[in-house]
Amino acid sequence: TPVPTFDLVIAGASGDLALRKLFPALAHRVAEGVIPRDSRVIGLVRSHDPGDGLMRTVEARLQEEGLSRAQAEAFMPHLEFVRTDVTNPESMTALNERLGPPDRVRAFYLATPPQLFAPASRALAGAGLLDGEARLILEKPLGKDLASAKAINEAVAEVLPERRTYRIDHYLGKETVQNLLVLRFANTLFERSWSQRDIDHVQITVAETVGLEKRADYYDGVGALRDMVQNHVLQLLCLFAIEPPNTLDADAVRDEKVRVLRALRPIHGADVLQRTVRGQYVRGSSNGQAVPGYAEELGRASGTETFAALRCDLDTWRWAGVPIYLRTGKRMGARYSEIAVTFKSVPHSIFGGDRRDGLAPNRLVIRLQPNDGVQMHLMMKVPGSGRLQLVPRTLDLRYDTAFNERTPDAYERLLTDVIRGDQTLFMRRDEVETAWGFVDPIIGGWRDYYATPHRYPAGTAGPSQAVGLIERDGRSWSEPELRG
Ligand code: BG6
Repeated sequence: TPVPTFDLVIAGASGDLALRKLFPALAHRVAEGVIPRDSRVIGLVRSHDPGDGLMRTVEARLQEEGLSRAQAEAFMPHLEFVRTDVTNPESMTALNERLGPPDRVRAFYLATPPQLFAPASRALAGAGLLDGEARLILEKPLGKDLASAKAINEAVAEVLPERRTYRIDHYLGKETVQNLLVLRFANTLFERSWSQRDIDHVQITVAETVGLEKRADYYDGVGALRDMVQNHVLQLLCLFAIEPPNTLDADAVRDEKVRVLRALRPIHGADVLQRTVRGQYVRGSSNGQAVPGYAEELGRASGTETFAALRCDLDTWRWAGVPIYLRTGKRMGARYSEIAVTFKSVPHSIFGGDRRDGLAPNRLVIRLQPNDGVQMHLMMKVPGSGRLQLVPRTLDLRYDTAFNERTPDAYERLLTDVIRGDQTLFMRRDEVETAWGFVDPIIGGWRDYYATPHRYPAGTAGPSQAVGLIERDGRSWSEPELRG
């Protein structure tokens, strides 16, 4: 479906997200010719002087983000800045006058801290801006625990129905994440073995090499569990584990995802000592450069974790007895995100009594970034007429060689989905709250039993206790690259 003409209002428009992701995403869409000519992007800034300075900053940033000069120039006529306070009803009334006719699609993107979500949506509604078919987009984090998430959702629900509320989890906009559904439900091969019958366990890793990145105000006190696991990593788990939805309709998919979240076995109290690991990086190296530890970057000691590993279990027929190990961290040995599925070993080896150990179980690796693609590890016979020798080898499908198309950034997809009115890739209220309901008791357990994260040197695979978490179950993490 074509993208209709729109007014997209972005609050927090001089912030990092807008400059690094939103404007480049929109500029790519303009370059592709999918944005109607009269569409406007109206950036709201609170304190900045919205003069030419900011426009020039955006134009320069677009080029840093890989757009050509001509592409950047083509985007600029769509953009304007307005100095305004999104929580102030009077400035919202003034904004109203600057918007185009109400028959075009209107969307309001709150790329602001979550404390502003409730007052801003009230102010928008008070000025009549959320009438008709207007949409509201909320950027993460959606609160810091279940209670604050509920409060935000409640305040938004008072002024806007759920079907016009778009909660972003940008991982859902990633090509490889969407491809999970295609891999599972457009092929018969995998779905038949996608359960405890054939799968031994699953590992989901989202490893980053960046550290605190000048985000201390946001990150400290939040930590890896809230920043990454509550949203992105659990979303990956959901798409990996869901039952086949009937269609790709927003609610069909989201109903199934909520079911997965509800089936997560709770981790609370002293369970955290057996089933979770917290870590915080100390001085080490990243890409060959010496880098400071988290506390040094922050300028003070802190109990915030920059690494989290969890052993999760889904209490369902399909997944009983199949642990799903989750792991995410900053300043790890490589930027590296994947879902690795380890199948069960063959039940009996015909290749000799002691050969079973030598038969590596099949492994399917869905690589999200970088080098996105799918790998299948199989056992093969070494060619030759001598003694029968078996070795693991890899079927390797890389997106960049299989396709010529440019891989769009997640936000490109998500922003045009909002304008088109497609909620499939956005989180529904019950999803967000169920995910917090799983995370809250872990935070409580950490507070009571595990206040100090283990240390790990920057540039490694995390604290050694994370190795213990999986080795205790007789398994090991699947990748060599992270062991700095
Ligand atoms: C964000 C987190 O949601 O996702 C950041 O707040 C993190 O801490 C980022 O760095 C990772 O996103 P990506 O797309 O680079 O994997």
